[in-house]
Amino acid sequence: MNRSLFRPHPRPSGAMLLTGILLTTGAIAFGDDAASGSVDKQLHAALEQAGFTGKIQSTLVPRLGRPIDTRLADLGRLLFFDVSGGLHDDNTCGGCHSPSAGLGDTQSIAIGVQNNLIVGPHRTGPRNQRRTPSAANTAFYPNLMWNGRFSAPSGDPFNNSAGFVFPAPEGSTLFPPNDPVIKHLLQAQAFIPPTELVEVAGFTGTKFTIGPRFDQFDDGKGRTVPPPDASGFRNEPIRQAVLTRLNGTPNYRQLFGALFPTVAAGGPIDFTMFGRAIAEFEFTMVFADAPLDKFARGDDNAMDSSAKKGGLIFFGKGKCVSCHTVSGKSNEMFSDFQMHNIGVPQIAPFFGVGQGNVIFDGPGEDEDFGLEQITGKSADRYKFRSSPLRNVSLQPAFFHNGAFTRLEDAVRHHLNAADSARRYSPVNAGVDLDLTYRIAPVELVLAALDPGVSTPLHLDIDEFEHLVAFLKRGLLDERAIPRRLCELSPSSVPSGMPVLSFENCKRQRD
Ligand code: HEC
Ligand code: HEC
Repeated sequence: MNRSLFRPHPRPSGAMLLTGILLTTGAIAFGDDAASGSVDKQLHAALEQAGFTGKIQSTLVPRLGRPIDTRLADLGRLLFFDVSGGLHDDNTCGGCHSPSAGLGDTQSIAIGVQNNLIVGPHRTGPRNQRRTPSAANTAFYPNLMWNGRFSAPSGDPFNNSAGFVFPAPEGSTLFPPNDPVIKHLLQAQAFIPPTELVEVAGFTGTKFTIGPRFDQFDDGKGRTVPPPDASGFRNEPIRQAVLTRLNGTPNYRQLFGALFPTVAAGGPIDFTMFGRAIAEFEFTMVFADAPLDKFARGDDNAMDSSAKKGGLIFFGKGKCVSCHTVSGKSNEMFSDFQMHNIGVPQIAPFFGVGQGNVIFDGPGEDEDFGLEQITGKSADRYKFRSSPLRNVSLQPAFFHNGAFTRLEDAVRHHLNAADSARRYSPVNAGVDLDLTYRIAPVELVLAALDPGVSTPLHLDIDEFEHLVAFLKRGLLDERAIPRRLCELSPSSVPSGMPVLSFENCKRQRD
């Protein structure tokens, strides 16, 4: 109702008019204190209406039903940063989920295997297909990934009563209901990254060890791609190969042995142990106590005035909360965990040897079909999950492909998606050079735009700045900043293999 076309003098709705009058008369008649009091009041009311309590972080341990096991979490941390879990010897979780970027990507589109062991702006290597979302706060996500393909059908990641569902080949078979060991969605999810050929496994290691390295597999157009038959059946053999490594590393035998009696007694390290350690580390990576949470709990000084006004727009006129939900199953993560097409421009890596190792969708192989990749329904084309927005200001790029590198541009895109997509220039958007050459046509994307963003929304300059301030400062939990998270990356790892070099962490230390 508050969305107006770009008319010279948009006719405000009743609610808007009322808010406007309250704000301005408050400021004039009663001075600044009264005005800020009124903003506080309105924001508290808006939060209450949206179902936001600011208490989500305190629910972690009760919902786990046990305290966090700090020794297990620390083992998970070592695994998170040790390239020995990746059969290609050059990548691990931390290479993409970087402590210098809030445990998200340093790139617009992730670079996995065949990288230069650098994590930061100077990372090189073939690109995959999407930007790495942050691993922080994922303990609260009812589904994972840009297209939600790993999910807890119970609607609650802490509840395995309906099992956990993955795409084929795992489907719903690997994690059946009420499994006594795998109880949280993240414990299950950790089974997947080590098997991803383009992320960490490379094209060697299992069935494909016979013959030359498959890194240089050529698709006939001079590009490096996975072997054509590299479908899911390989996952289990890859996991076994990773376990052979862990079991062959005395340091890991000792570390797992200290936590798992069966290992101490000489039994093997298995993948559930790997998954539980990684997930435990992720449980310690919950940074959901932002100024907005403190404000919601009653500390009116936790947010500055601009961020508060931006909050009113986020929950009000901007209707951002209609997709970036905070109530119920969203666990106050600022996402409805549904997929929408919001008309994000499509960029793809430069067409050439070594520039990309995933074949993109569409006739030009420069598109990403998003949810359709999982459901097979053309109506789901170009749909991606509403991004959870906590700690968003720590990201160097935005959207599923990092098409924008400034938060302001990502917000502006929402205000008039069609216009933004049609005018899009990757150079102006600041993406890396190799991503500036191939832009897929955008009209088909725009033809299926989500109604929630299809009508342009006008914000004046002040309103826009407040909204950005809300996202930047209101939703930032300071514990996730690089200076803090960089301390997590070990200077050596149990396997003795080389450690990744985090560019922006070094700068922090110097
Ligand atoms: C090559 C880069 C790369 C590596 C290495 C990697 N990830 Fe990811 N991760 C991604 C990308 C890209 C996505 C989103 C994929 C998609 O939606 O298609 C993702 C998604 C996730 C998510 C879901 C986040 C969300 O918002 O839903 C979690 C959790 C996660 N990864 C954890 C891990 C763990 C744990 C490891 C190591 C065992 C790991 N990742 C290794 C790139 C990587
Ligand atoms: C119709 C649903 C919808 C509405 C309304 C909406 N968003 Fe989004 N938003 C999304 C989706 C979907 C994405 C991810 C799109 C993608 O990557 O392809 C997203 C991504 C974002 C991102 C980028 C975050 C990241 O990690 O990449 C920001 C910032 C954002 N939204 C802010 C806002 C703001 C501010 C508003 C209100 C003005 C808003 N959104 C309204 C659905 C919506």
